[in-house]
Amino acid sequence: MTELVEKLYRTSDLTDGELKALIEADSEDVAELLRRRADEVRRLHYGKKVFLRGLIEVSSYCKNDCLYCGIRRSNRDADRYRLTREQIMLCAESGYELGFRTFVMQGGEDSFFTDDFMCGVIAELREKYPDCAITLSLGERSYDSYKRMKAAGADRYLLRHEAADGELYASLHPSEMSLAHRKQCLYDLRSLGYQVGAGFMVGAPRQTTDHLIADLRFLQELKPQMIGIGPFVPHHSTPFADEKGGTLALTLRLLGILRLMFPRVLLPATTALGTIAPNGRELGLQTGCNVVMPNLSPVDVRKKYELYDNKICTGEEAAECRTCLQRRIEAAGYEVAVERGDCIE
Ligand code: 5AD
Ligand code: FES
Repeated sequence: MTELVEKLYRTSDLTDGELKALIEADSEDVAELLRRRADEVRRLHYGKKVFLRGLIEVSSYCKNDCLYCGIRRSNRDADRYRLTREQIMLCAESGYELGFRTFVMQGGEDSFFTDDFMCGVIAELREKYPDCAITLSLGERSYDSYKRMKAAGADRYLLRHEAADGELYASLHPSEMSLAHRKQCLYDLRSLGYQVGAGFMVGAPRQTTDHLIADLRFLQELKPQMIGIGPFVPHHSTPFADEKGGTLALTLRLLGILRLMFPRVLLPATTALGTIAPNGRELGLQTGCNVVMPNLSPVDVRKKYELYDNKICTGEEAAECRTCLQRRIEAAGYEVAVERGDCIE
């Protein structure tokens, strides 16, 4: 099976049959070679650099009802909050001092965050922090909304496609959501000139290897600048409370495969990966990841942005995470880069 890793390393592609074999190759040999090759490719393009993104979780209100997510609208137990414009600016201010040069405003689909509101915040950030990238992760919105926020100064948009297979997508989402619309949003964002991030969960209920291959093929077609993947982690008050979560080994295998398929892509070692294993993010970095997205949200709201159970860093201040991460990144053999960290195209 190691020859498949070498072929992927050389050609950045495999047939569906080969991908299937590699995705399912649960062996230490494959894991080790994938790690070695993925690390080689990331070092070739990005050296030892790890880019930090300051995540500001702006709202836990959400009109959607994705079955896996802890802040889905049907979860009556969820504690809801939204940040004010002033709170968002304070998060950015402390983030800038801590060396963050990308701010990610992420939230549920909250109609309180109108285009006017968002454009005001974006324009203020753009003016105060001209050397920073502004990333949005606010779900599905209209073409016009994406266009206005881009004009106000946003640079990037993260919208995981979640599942490129229609049936799997339908089994993870309520009937009013559609894969076609999700994809349309991603293509709209790209045509508007955003740097785009897509991605999916690993080990979601009913997900098969064929579904994962469909995800990889969709990513080859979309060619996003960033790919966010992390293990599915059950949340206790969702319909998926009793499902099994994604495993560390499969997530790492997919991260290695992604680095070899998309040599220059931005690949975050996600918080969910750090949640399922204490050294999950470090292992991610050693398997091709080059981005970490620590939390800048005010500590009093952090536990409320609970997409899944046992999320890490919900009690830490931004400064504590910054110090902790720097130590972890360096111990893993890499270095924190204080820069916007754009994708090299
Ligand atoms: N486990 C892991 N990831 C999740 N997300 C939502 N719910 C969960 C969960 N239970 C991911 C989705 C979403 C991103 C913000 O968080 O993929 O796009
Ligand atoms: Fe938050 Fe370590 S990254 S405490």
